[in-house]
Amino acid sequence: MTIKSIGVIGAGQMGNGIAHVMALAGYDVMLTDVSQDALDAAIAGIDGNMGRQVGRGKIAEADMQAAMKRIETTLALSDVGATDLVIEAATERESVKQAIFEDLQPHLKPETILTSNTSSISITRLASRTDRPERFMGFHFMNPVPVMQLVELIRGIATDQQTYEACLGVVDRLGKTAASAEDFPGFIVNRILMPMINEAVYTLYEGVGNVKSIDESMKLGANHPMGPLELADFIGLDTCLAIMNVLHDGLADTKYRPCPLLTKYVEAGWLGRKTQRGFYDYRGEAPVPTR
Ligand code: CAA
Repeated sequence: MTIKSIGVIGAGQMGNGIAHVMALAGYDVMLTDVSQDALDAAIAGIDGNMGRQVGRGKIAEADMQAAMKRIETTLALSDVGATDLVIEAATERESVKQAIFEDLQPHLKPETILTSNTSSISITRLASRTDRPERFMGFHFMNPVPVMQLVELIRGIATDQQTYEACLGVVDRLGKTAASAEDFPGFIVNRILMPMINEAVYTLYEGVGNVKSIDESMKLGANHPMGPLELADFIGLDTCLAIMNVLHDGLADTKYRPCPLLTKYVEAGWLGRKTQRGFYDYRGEAPVPTR
């Protein structure tokens, strides 16, 4: 099946990045969210990020203008039903995602492929609640979407080969690389990345190092582009905790126990960059470690 149009549900950090790369690759994009403010912020964000790419000579000004024109926004979830491929990138909560797929179902074309950008929720379980588990997949982008080369493609137990190949074709057209992952908690990237971040929080919790020494150690000692605590703030501490809980519950192994200090930051509402405070405080000119 030829995919020409993409529906993106959720205009947050991931949704706006997905709309950005899809429009640049020539797909017509229908972006939806529950508030006009979120849609306006997403369009402003995409405009800023593409502008940065133009400024650095990565894309041409004319390509940016054409891409921006390909993005339509709507508050009506039903408008997304007419697209060829839907990518759900809403809040990382299973009940929210299930409700979205349920509401969308009556508006879908029979051949539309449904996907979720979930970072850890079971694709098989999400698919089983829809009318098309064979045309349902995990389509997991990394943040920041315009920069990161990888997309994880996750097949649920019922996903058919045609659906997988159609999604693979989209990843190719984006100029990105797909990694096929089986549908188990955390897939590949988060199964490995999140326990590392959680261990960095334990290292902080136990006083082995402070925020600065832990991040510097991993940047300068392991050549990571960001330290694990800086990266946790970038991803969102609520997302990190949610993924650790999925690993802990789904794999039933105490080695995935979320660090109590991570839970405490989330309970405080210190969720990282998006709330201006996490392991660093971003309210001043430069980030200041909170421990
Ligand atoms: N849109 C477009 N371009 C962007 C961008 C965005 N949102 N953010 C950064 N860029 C571009 C910059 O313009 C710059 O371009 P040039 O190479 O042409 O100069 C380039 O990316 C590097 O950016 P900066 O110079 O601003 O900053 P940096 O060198 O410190 O890199 C970074 C920033 C790319 C984010 C880098 O720090 C990095 O790779 N960090 C790790 C990110 C990571 O691990 N992501 C995965 C998170 S896990 C995940 O997403 C999965 C999950 O489910 C939780």
